[in-house]
Amino acid sequence: MPKLVVVNRAGEEKTIEAKAGVSVMEAIRDNGFDELLALCGGCCSCATCHVYVDPDFAGAVTPLSEDENDLLDSTDHRTEMSRLSCQLEMSAALDGLKITIAPED
Ligand code: FES
Repeated sequence: MPKLVVVNRAGEEKTIEAKAGVSVMEAIRDNGFDELLALCGGCCSCATCHVYVDPDFAGAVTPLSEDENDLLDSTDHRTEMSRLSCQLEMSAALDGLKITIAPED
């Protein structure tokens, strides 16, 4: 199973296993992280699943959609590495992906 490295808001790093096909948001939520609210359940309409993708994986993740881009504009903590984790699907190609949970807006 692909591995996902999650850094929480306290800076603590934890490696979890994420089944291919699930979203990064689901993998984080199902592994006991309570910081990622994911209020809309993955419908790309809340931006409470905001994460930063490690620059090493910038070329490996799927490109931003227009909707995701617009929603990210509504957050106060957007950076070049910002993504909505519900829009990132785990796959073998993303094995070892490292993400950091963004600060709460
Ligand atoms: S869970 Fe709402 S945008 Fe990702």
